[in-house]
Amino acid sequence: MESGKMLYEGKAKRMFETGDPEILLIEYKNSLTAFNAQKKAEMEGKGRYNTLISAWLFGYLSEKGIPSHFLKLVDDNHQLVRKVQILPIEVVVRNITTGTLCKRLGVPEGMRLPRPLVEFYLKDDALGDPLITDDHALLFNWASPEEIKSMKEKSLAVNEVLGDLFRGKGIILVDFKLEFGRDSEGNVLLADEISPDTCRFWDATTGERLDKDRFRKDLGDVLGAYREIWKRLSGKEE
Ligand code: ADP
Ligand code: TMP
Ligand code: ASP
Repeated sequence: MESGKMLYEGKAKRMFETGDPEILLIEYKNSLTAFNAQKKAEMEGKGRYNTLISAWLFGYLSEKGIPSHFLKLVDDNHQLVRKVQILPIEVVVRNITTGTLCKRLGVPEGMRLPRPLVEFYLKDDALGDPLITDDHALLFNWASPEEIKSMKEKSLAVNEVLGDLFRGKGIILVDFKLEFGRDSEGNVLLADEISPDTCRFWDATTGERLDKDRFRKDLGDVLGAYREIWKRLSGKEE
């Protein structure tokens, strides 16, 4: 498919028009950012791993009955996706306490929660993506009651499916962030990406961090962690 005008360049991806107004071409960049882009780096090969991992996971979710915007892998850095109107809410699901949850609430790191915690953040870089409640989303029309219900149900279903998948590969799915959009019929569809940029993965045996926390916390060998996730999913040695 021909790629057309660039519609948007974000921190991690570029979105292009295609010949079909319902379809976008996504290009995954090698940029790494953290703490609302206060920390930045370029890492050759990062975009490729996120492209492949995200495509693989969306394919797997679709097989398990959870559809998404993902249509097709074009090459190692590009995917075709269904264009949606992104809801301005980032949904975070947490199984184990870490990250901003511990900073914000002073709870200890590494506690397994009795059930998954679902949080909403307003998708607004200028405000630093603040934590919001369902009522904020409703009162400011960021999502309808049905959309809120659907995002929560879908996020918990993704957690179940991916939690089981990664457990089978010796990885703990600690937490992750999802984005959703409205398709042309008004349905809520899972969108954006699912990758080591947007999830926390801990090795089940060693506790080694296999995600963007290696960059956030300067743990070294960031690309090695992304390669390891791809290797465990694909079964391919590189
Ligand atoms: P950011 O905007 O946070 O810097 P990215 O660099 O990942 O993030 O840019 C990708 C942008 O494209 C995000 O704003 C995301 O919400 C949006 N997006 C993801 N999937 C779709 C889609 N299917 N249709 C329209 N926009 C999408
Ligand atoms: P947090 O603990 O920093 O709030 O992160 C929770 C999860 O959400 C973690 O898996 C990383 C992911 N995340 C993103 O994908 N994008 C973001 O902008 C942030 C802050 C977190
Ligand atoms: N994605 C955010 C950023 O790029 C924050 C993060 O993931 O830590 O700054």
